[in-house]
Amino acid sequence: MTSILIYAGSARRGAFSRQLTAAATTIVGEASGKATLVNLADFDVPLYNADIEDGSGIPHPVVEFRRLVATHQGMIIATPEYNGFVTPLLLNMLCWASRPSLADDFGAVFPNKPVALLASSPGRLGGVRVIPRLRDVVADLGMVAVPGFTTVPQAGEAFTPRGRLADASLESGLTTLIDRLLLASRQQA
Ligand SMILES: Cc1cc2nc3c(=O)[nH]c(=O)nc-3n(C[C@H](O)[C@H](O)[C@H](O)COP(=O)(O)O)c2cc1C
Repeated sequence: MTSILIYAGSARRGAFSRQLTAAATTIVGEASGKATLVNLADFDVPLYNADIEDGSGIPHPVVEFRRLVATHQGMIIATPEYNGFVTPLLLNMLCWASRPSLADDFGAVFPNKPVALLASSPGRLGGVRVIPRLRDVVADLGMVAVPGFTTVPQAGEAFTPRGRLADASLESGLTTLIDRLLLASRQQA
């Protein structure tokens, strides 16, 4: 079964991007993938500072996140845009996890990892401005973003009570993107 790690760039309670990760988790399961949904808030990670790394190495929660990345074949990242850019929460975790750790044998965990990019916003544009920025970030880390993306505008009204996307064309677009990710993840492994 193809394993996919899923997380959001917001830790906010009720975050739209987290609702989107939950919807993606359901679709991965329906496509016979094995989804692991995590909340970055559950990883108690300080703001990156080389003094911390030099003094005590990579924090344990980062080692745990690196293990999750290394042991999953693909990833889904859903994020809001902050001023059109990637959130500090997401960037901080990606920066930490890009550091080699003496506490594990995984080496660089990101290179060649297939990833699907999603964004959401309560606004009309669905956070679309963050997609090219996020695509650059993941590419610079060596990941392979699958072609396409899903953005969810007016995210406050976008989800059904059961956590699915209410708009059929959005749901179908996300399903196609996830099918593409599962194929790339199987081929890469
Ligand atoms: C610092 C900051 C900058 C923001 N910039 C944008 C923006 O550029 N575009 C946008 O659509 N929404 C922007 N927003 C609004 C967020 O999309 C909104 O707060 C959203 O609910 C946050 O995502 P979440 O629901 O996943 O936590 C911004 C919010 C903050 C806190």
